[in-house]
Amino acid sequence: EKGDYPYFMLKEIAEQPQAVADTLAGSLVDGRVSLPGLGLSEQCIRELTSVVVIACGSSYHAGLIAQQAIERWTDLPVHVEVASEFRYREPKLRSTTLVVAVSQSGESMDTLMALRHAQQAGATVVSICNTRGSSMARESHGVLYTEAGTEIGVAATKTFLTQVAAGYLLALHLAGVRGGQTTDGLIEVAEALADIPRAARQLLATVPQLRALAASLADRDAVLFLGRQLGYPVAMEGALKLKELAYLHAEAFAAGELKHGPIALIEDGLPVVVVMPSASQQPLLHEKMMSNIQEVRARGAVTVVIAEQGDESVDACADAVVRMPTTHFMLAPLLASIPLQILTCELALARGCDVDQPRNLAKSVTVE
Ligand code: M6R
Repeated sequence: EKGDYPYFMLKEIAEQPQAVADTLAGSLVDGRVSLPGLGLSEQCIRELTSVVVIACGSSYHAGLIAQQAIERWTDLPVHVEVASEFRYREPKLRSTTLVVAVSQSGESMDTLMALRHAQQAGATVVSICNTRGSSMARESHGVLYTEAGTEIGVAATKTFLTQVAAGYLLALHLAGVRGGQTTDGLIEVAEALADIPRAARQLLATVPQLRALAASLADRDAVLFLGRQLGYPVAMEGALKLKELAYLHAEAFAAGELKHGPIALIEDGLPVVVVMPSASQQPLLHEKMMSNIQEVRARGAVTVVIAEQGDESVDACADAVVRMPTTHFMLAPLLASIPLQILTCELALARGCDVDQPRNLAKSVTVE
């Protein structure tokens, strides 16, 4: 079943361009998004007053990316919450609240209980789900299926990336029905989204570079990840993967928070992985991130920078640069996540860990 790959994780990382293409297929035609499976009438979408996303683990990170897309492209406020915390604070929900449960398995008990709570409170509930017929799919008003196929590795890779893609589809759909509220050209975004599988394929060629990098970092005790805006959930996902697979202490920070405490952690030889904003499309954020890299490097950090093609400004302050193709900056998480998955996989392998079956973890967590 693993074909030419020694591990399911490597195979599933390589399957991502196709999985994303399959998730987009049918829903995205000529720059227009239609999601009939969601079961939401145009009137219902127009009457929405807010969106709440509930999820756990990697799915939560996909939800944080969807939040930024929905808030940027529509007039709807979006709140994202770890599902295990959701119902205990008795959130205020109404029929015009769209609750989106994000779950690969559709069976995570924390998310399922949160979904049931939202249903009972009368909210409109949909799910982004990879498993047909799962509890969440059955108990939602509608479902947006990710088409990742079966994922054997415990770590979410292709299911995560397809959830991110589905989040963009949902955001574009809501924007299309409610009327775009953004300076982004949404047709242009949709076209860039359709081009992601091609760009993602190019990133698979980073394996040799990341394998060598992983070998040089395998003896470290901790790794920090920095991101800003959309790069922050990407950094969070990178850190989660590293904990889960390489049993390394890994933590992500919004780079602006560094000076509020975490910078005290920086010491000689500490690897810091930086998810760079687009130099051409987000010059202000880019400049701020450049300062952050210089700050940590001046204190001895080894900097690994994920940057878009053509961004040469990072060369001088990075110990290693991983290049990704340029895309619309809102979609960059679909690309930037891939080298982080590969780096994690290679680091875990270099440390002798089982990347398909990490210790203490189950693929689907069906207890609360
Ligand atoms: O099946 P779900 O998407 O609801 O699972 C949620 C998390 O348990 C899951 O994303 C977990 O964090 C991943 N295995 C991490 O790689």
